[in-house]
Amino acid sequence: MDLFEYQARDMFAAHSVPVLAGIVAHTPEGAREAAARIGGVTVVKAQVKTGGRGKAGGIRIAATPEEARAAAEEILGMDIKGHTVEKVMVAQGADIAQEYYFSLLLDRANRSYLAMCSTEGGVDIERLAADRPEALARVEVDPLTGVDEATARRIVEAAGFPAEVGEKVIPVLQKLYEVYREEDATLVEVNPLVLTEAGEIIALDAKITLDDNAAFRHGNRAALSAAAGHLDPLEQKAREKHLKYVTLEGSIGVIGNGAGLVMSTLDVVAAAGRRHGGQKPANFLDIGGGASAETMTDSLEIVLGDEQVKSVFVNVFGGITACDDVARGIIGALEELGDTATKPLVVRLDGNNVDEGRRILAEYDHPLVTGVWNMDEAADKAAELAAAVD
Ligand SMILES: Nc1ncnc2c1ncn2[C@@H]1O[C@H](COP(=O)(O)OP(=O)(O)OP(=O)(O)O)[C@@H](O)[C@H]1O
Ligand SMILES: [Mg+2]
Repeated sequence: MDLFEYQARDMFAAHSVPVLAGIVAHTPEGAREAAARIGGVTVVKAQVKTGGRGKAGGIRIAATPEEARAAAEEILGMDIKGHTVEKVMVAQGADIAQEYYFSLLLDRANRSYLAMCSTEGGVDIERLAADRPEALARVEVDPLTGVDEATARRIVEAAGFPAEVGEKVIPVLQKLYEVYREEDATLVEVNPLVLTEAGEIIALDAKITLDDNAAFRHGNRAALSAAAGHLDPLEQKAREKHLKYVTLEGSIGVIGNGAGLVMSTLDVVAAAGRRHGGQKPANFLDIGGGASAETMTDSLEIVLGDEQVKSVFVNVFGGITACDDVARGIIGALEELGDTATKPLVVRLDGNNVDEGRRILAEYDHPLVTGVWNMDEAADKAAELAAAVD
């Protein structure tokens, strides 16, 4: 899960990383009040989970509360790379002397952590990495020691900080590592980390990605994700049912078991869709290992609840799950859904207990269900049925 900047800022503050005052506002008037409370010059910052907010006009300096109100009026509702701005953070303004870059991330390929640091921050870091890779220090961080003082010193030296500034940056990097480890993050990025005219090191921007697999270790995750709001309603429902579901933009609903099978199903459906007037998969849905009637009912309910879906392809390979159980699950789901199930289903079953599974479906002989036992042909049939609705 990616956090909003204000959430990441709060997390930094909780771990004693130096940050400036910041207050979230949902309305221009709220921004004005926030700026008045903070006092002095403030910066109104769009809160969206994408980069390049500054360039898009989503970050504005305000000399007075009234200017903050006006800035928020401009920024709220703005579209930044497909994200609508629904809240802003009013941040205390900093007198910036220098801007630096620091990030710490999970380096999967090396089974390690990687720290990246540059004395040329505030800029587009991807561009810096491409144009002048020598200006971006990369230091491997041993997960067993983390960023202790010695490691922080190595990072600071590799980045080429002047000695005096480096001494001030070292403890901040240690705190940022504490955030990374204690919050189970896979990314902590600060761009810019600044040196103020008064000589202080402050994190002016904050980006954190949390490892969802560690969510059970933290009591704060539900609140953090609830603040994201506006999760697609079907995705929200799927999450409550513990289904792995992502909506896409096409017309062919896809239900399968196992992420790998579902991904290849999406490919096969996309290819078949091209032969039928450009139909596309409507979603990713992995029902996982079990395919009980309940799981099937939940899955079909979600997929059929998507208005753009015109046909559904259920593609199950029985491994641990037996095909006869899946067949019974589909029947149970159709019984449960009754008249609300109105779209054609193409079912492909293979693997464990396949003959019994196919026999059960054939015997049930539901008018909406077509059994096709070859994956390519089944995808083609689903695409054909979706195209027929147009
Ligand atoms: N509180 C602040 N006081 C003064 N200047 C600020 C403050 N916050 C941000 N800035 C200035 O605005 C620039 C952009 O801010 P920030 O890094 O937060 O957003 P961004 O980098 O444009 O967006 P993103 O991180 O989403 O790409 C900073 O590099 C800094 O110069
Ligand atoms: Mg930034």
